[in-house]
Amino acid sequence: MKIDSCINLLEAQPSWIILLSSLGFLTLLRAAIAPLSWVYSTFLRPGKDLKSSYGSWALVTGATDGIGKAIALQLARRGLHLLEAEIEGLDVGLLVNSAGTTYPHAMFFHEVEEELWRSLVRVNVEATTRVTRAVLPGMLRRRRGAVVNIGSAASAVLPSFPFSAVYAATKAYIDQFSRSLFAEYKRMGIDVQCQIPFYVATKMVSMKQSSTFVPSPDEYAKAAVDWIGYGPRCTPYWSHSLQWCFTCFIPDFVLDLWRLHVGITNRNQACILRYTTLVVESVKEYVPFCAEISNEDMGLTQNAFINDGQDQDEMSQILVADHSDRKIEIGQK
Ligand SMILES: NC(=O)c1ccc[n+]([C@@H]2O[C@H](COP(=O)([O-])OP(=O)(O)OC[C@H]3O[C@@H](n4cnc5c(N)ncnc54)[C@H](OP(=O)(O)O)[C@@H]3O)[C@@H](O)[C@H]2O)c1
Repeated sequence: MKIDSCINLLEAQPSWIILLSSLGFLTLLRAAIAPLSWVYSTFLRPGKDLKSSYGSWALVTGATDGIGKAIALQLARRGLHLLEAEIEGLDVGLLVNSAGTTYPHAMFFHEVEEELWRSLVRVNVEATTRVTRAVLPGMLRRRRGAVVNIGSAASAVLPSFPFSAVYAATKAYIDQFSRSLFAEYKRMGIDVQCQIPFYVATKMVSMKQSSTFVPSPDEYAKAAVDWIGYGPRCTPYWSHSLQWCFTCFIPDFVLDLWRLHVGITNRNQACILRYTTLVVESVKEYVPFCAEISNEDMGLTQNAFINDGQDQDEMSQILVADHSDRKIEIGQK
């Protein structure tokens, strides 16, 4: 009876009200399902059987350290054989492009030497493109395969990444390259995916200690391998995807200011460390007892400078003024 009266009530409404109400209902339903879908895909969904889905040979670039090494170990635990170097003629079923490099420390773009930015482009862009190009024909022949490229939140999530501009730009390439390849090859049985990590405790970001928001390479790799084959773009580690979600609520100009502050602080600390090291090295040559200065002492000196909050340019002038001919060399480096 009640259902009948509801139907009668609906029939009495103009069609535009029914259309708008349906759209509203679907939007609410979608919003309600999103957290459930996140819980399922992050914690409950089983990883694919990679060996039967893609084949038994995997190639991981950058497998000597960090994320690449941890992913290679995870894949080996799941029964895949890892290729070491020569890929010509071998049936690579799964390729993980994890090799990557960045600046030694935060820098303005005009401070980045040509050799450095070229090496970033070579490793992050050219090597990924070349290795992917080399394995794709075999995957196409077998009509199955997976390519996983490691991108970065630096380009996919944040509106800007000042003081690491070339790094962020190379990762933007990886993101778009992967999404386009996903669209090109999905129908041919090849899954291309860009994974977008936030911070992971590796040597690249000079972090040894993991925490809730900065997983260890092993923690990241376990989640990363479970996500292979599920969609063109993902943030496998649970706390990383929460960070992405929070970031969506922060206006771009606030994120820009925050990254600018982090970049300037890192750059100045790195400059101070470099100048301090150079000065100690040069003083050691003139004053024999200075040869006794330990790295720990140098660290203390550096911290003292940082704590004084002196501007890096002012600092370099002081260092230049305090020493004779060699200082100009130091100041210009
Ligand atoms: N760690 C993070 O917070 C983070 C966040 C977002 C994205 N990522 C991305 O994740 C990937 C892995 O980074 P990671 O943190 O694991 O860094 P990592 O610990 O420094 O490892 C980088 C790997 O790439 C290799 N590599 C670097 N330059 C190379 C070159 N010229 N030729 C061959 N191999 C080279 C390294 O080999 P060697 O050890 O021989 O140098 C190492 O195996 C990178 O693409 C990075 O951009 C990392």
